[in-house]
Amino acid sequence: MSEKRILVTGACGYIGSHTLVDLIENGFEVISVDNLDNADDAILEGVKMITGVHIDNHNVDLSHEEASDLFFEGIGQIDGIIHFAAHKSVGESVEQPLKYYQNNVNSLINLLRAVKKYQIPYFIFSSSCSVYGNPESLPVTEDTALQYAESPYAYTKQIGERIIQDVAAIEQQSKFILLRYFNPAGAHESGHIGEQPINKASNLVPVITETAIGKRDKMMVFGFDYPTRDGTCIRDYIHVMDLAHAHTLALVRLIENEDAPSCDIFNLGIGEGATVKECIDAFIRVTGRTLNYEMAPRRAGDVVAVYADNTKARNLLGWFPSKSVDEIMLSAWNWELKRSKVI
Ligand SMILES: NC(=O)c1ccc[n+]([C@@H]2O[C@H](COP(=O)([O-])OP(=O)(O)OC[C@H]3O[C@@H](n4cnc5c(N)ncnc54)[C@H](O)[C@@H]3O)[C@@H](O)[C@H]2O)c1
Repeated sequence: MSEKRILVTGACGYIGSHTLVDLIENGFEVISVDNLDNADDAILEGVKMITGVHIDNHNVDLSHEEASDLFFEGIGQIDGIIHFAAHKSVGESVEQPLKYYQNNVNSLINLLRAVKKYQIPYFIFSSSCSVYGNPESLPVTEDTALQYAESPYAYTKQIGERIIQDVAAIEQQSKFILLRYFNPAGAHESGHIGEQPINKASNLVPVITETAIGKRDKMMVFGFDYPTRDGTCIRDYIHVMDLAHAHTLALVRLIENEDAPSCDIFNLGIGEGATVKECIDAFIRVTGRTLNYEMAPRRAGDVVAVYADNTKARNLLGWFPSKSVDEIMLSAWNWELKRSKVI
């Protein structure tokens, strides 16, 4: 297993950098490619502090056909790709749909062309629970029918899944896994890496920590009249290290299990929903901090509630997420203190 060389796209980003750590700790060799659109490659220093392994990032825009082709011509043998690189802000995608279609769809197509050309055997795709839209029933299983994508971002994930399924149907030499993440949050326990977007954070947990530390005067809770137990949206928050480990397990499944289907899908959520208000309360309780927040109208592109049935990932990947919302909040706060140089 140890000789496998895995290309991680978007490796300097939030989930990518945590996955580098888990892959290295499980004996994989990693290659980082990231155009640093939403990341700083200094995060690789943090990865080195945790793992002892130095990684150089390849700064390549994968949505650019020629640049992508040139990169693959020079990189040598690759045994697998984990494809994180994408734009990911739901709100921004509503404002700038073409930016999202151009980047997310073209990057995937360029990578799949390389998969075919170089016969790369394993491919793992970052999909999202947003593909379920506003689901008819909860929790969602991998067989739950996909609904209308509520944002261009979500639609890029639906399109991406479909493109991969079409390719998997004809590319016998490669196997694919689509991982539908629910709501990744938290940071590595060391505090050496965490969520550090260049663009303004829009996910709940960094918005909470940035507000608590004073980088924002206040935060808004979008929607307080949803049909939920306290009127705020329900999401399934999954610790980023639990999520990272699922990628290693997915790779191991493809490598060790010759009978694995050519394309498979797994939900990666903890299997429980928490409301935005419950998350805020958890943060205040475990950190002892105050938080200046206000209720605001609903935001375009947001669904009411979504949480996972993760039985399939438990049974077939042997994946058992172990960290709670409290641990998510504590690790995110620890990271915020470190990156803000408070400790
Ligand atoms: N964080 C979440 O809440 C969440 C939820 C579900 C799915 N996802 C998906 O997981 C993946 C990783 O998300 P993340 O939270 O780590 O985001 P992130 O923005 O922190 O990381 C993505 C990385 O990809 C890079 N990138 C973007 N376009 C690129 C391009 N054309 N070429 C090369 N690099 C490029 C960015 O610079 C960034 O470092 C994304 O595909 C995202 O859509 C994220």
